Amino acid sequence: MTTVMSGSTGAPIQTGVAGSASASAGDASESARESVGAPFPAAVERLTLTDFRCYENVRMETGGRSVVLTGPNGAGKTNVLEAVSLLTPGRGLRRSSLSEVARQDAVRRTSGAPSPRAWAVAAKVATPTGVADIGTGLAGPGAEKRTVRIDGDNARNQAALSEYLDAQWLTPQMDRLFIDGRPARRRFLDRLVYGYDPAHSGRISAYEHAMRERARLLRDGAPDTAWLTALEDTMATKGVAVAAARGELVDRLGRFCCASHGPFPGAELTIDGDVERWLGAGPALEAEDNLRGALAASRAQDSAVGGAQVGPHRSDLHVRHLDKDQPAELCSTGEQKALLIAIVLADARMAAAERGRVPVLLLDEVAAHLDQQRREALFQELSAIGAQVWLTGTDRGLFEPLAGEALFFSVAAGAVTPELETV
Ligand SMILES: Nc1ncnc2c1ncn2[C@@H]1O[C@H](COP(=O)(O)OP(=O)(O)OP(=O)(O)O)[C@@H](O)[C@H]1O
Ligand SMILES: [Mg+2]
Repeated sequence: MTTVMSGSTGAPIQTGVAGSASASAGDASESARESVGAPFPAAVERLTLTDFRCYENVRMETGGRSVVLTGPNGAGKTNVLEAVSLLTPGRGLRRSSLSEVARQDAVRRTSGAPSPRAWAVAAKVATPTGVADIGTGLAGPGAEKRTVRIDGDNARNQAALSEYLDAQWLTPQMDRLFIDGRPARRRFLDRLVYGYDPAHSGRISAYEHAMRERARLLRDGAPDTAWLTALEDTMATKGVAVAAARGELVDRLGRFCCASHGPFPGAELTIDGDVERWLGAGPALEAEDNLRGALAASRAQDSAVGGAQVGPHRSDLHVRHLDKDQPAELCSTGEQKALLIAIVLADARMAAAERGRVPVLLLDEVAAHLDQQRREALFQELSAIGAQVWLTGTDRGLFEPLAGEALFFSVAAGAVTPELETV
């Protein structure tokens, strides 16, 4: 851990730029010690939801403090976290469609066909350069594109949000991350990359678009060879850039999560795939040539099977529990959860050290799955990192150690009510 904390306040007191992919763990610590200035914790100071999921109109004032949301099952706790996650680029923590999140009661029916109604999530956020008003939503019936507003003006695209808010999350669905298929692990890794390299999502979209076009040409038969070659060229250049960005993140993050922190184990991260192997063996241009060649050679097979046999869309993230020297998929449910938490905490520390910014952490139902010792260790780590954290749970008692530090809200029947603080 490279960030030094100021004891009881938990405010980080120093940080730094942890250098390039070639820096060692020692270098990372060294650069953190040498630097000045505290990392800036991203924070949502006010959150307003309009016709979002089960909420007609809700406004929460946090003043930038951490938030604990408690309430019964189905009360709407995860919905609040999802709303915050939609203030960053992408599809949010549930990956729902834009129309799905519109409040059902507000869905209008026009000539029998359901039509999504406008919904909005808005926030006042603290940024290193001051407070900003950001918002997102579906403009209204027929508008299938999510709109983004920054300080009252329409932004060109979602990517603009990443300048104002960084967030990482853990949800109960991610408990199966090491067991489920590769796409979820790649998405998890790609989200970590976005935090440092917002252009990564554009590269992935361009790669996937070219891959889909190529698959369509091959499926339709007798493709235009020049067009096919152009699409494979895009796949090769974008694909190698995607793999390189993932590989670089894995190398850097690996140095921040290789040591255990209390009950959270050290983790070794590796990414495995043909493109990664080529990148490891030679220059990027050679990897592009290899990918171009492999795609050209697999046209017949791809036209029969669909998709593409080779490319970074087939790579996989492997995680190893270092204390047990075991692959994550063989670890127990609790050990897998601890590994995931360890990785997300390491990412927050790395963001503080490298970018001077600490992401907001959205931790859905995390406390309930940890024993008391791990839970308390988690709260201590969160406080040391200095992040604004949004935690949910059905059992308020589990969060008692955070009293005085976090703001508590009870969630029920479409309302989010702040608890009065006793001084
Ligand atoms: N588009 C929507 N319109 C209205 N209500 C919705 C919509 N989508 C989901 N809901 C409602 O939101 C509620 C679920 O909210 P959420 O998942 O946030 O609950 P939770 O408090 O996290 O529950 P749990 O403790 O079980 O995780 C459900 O009652 C569901 O019916
Ligand atoms: Mg929930």
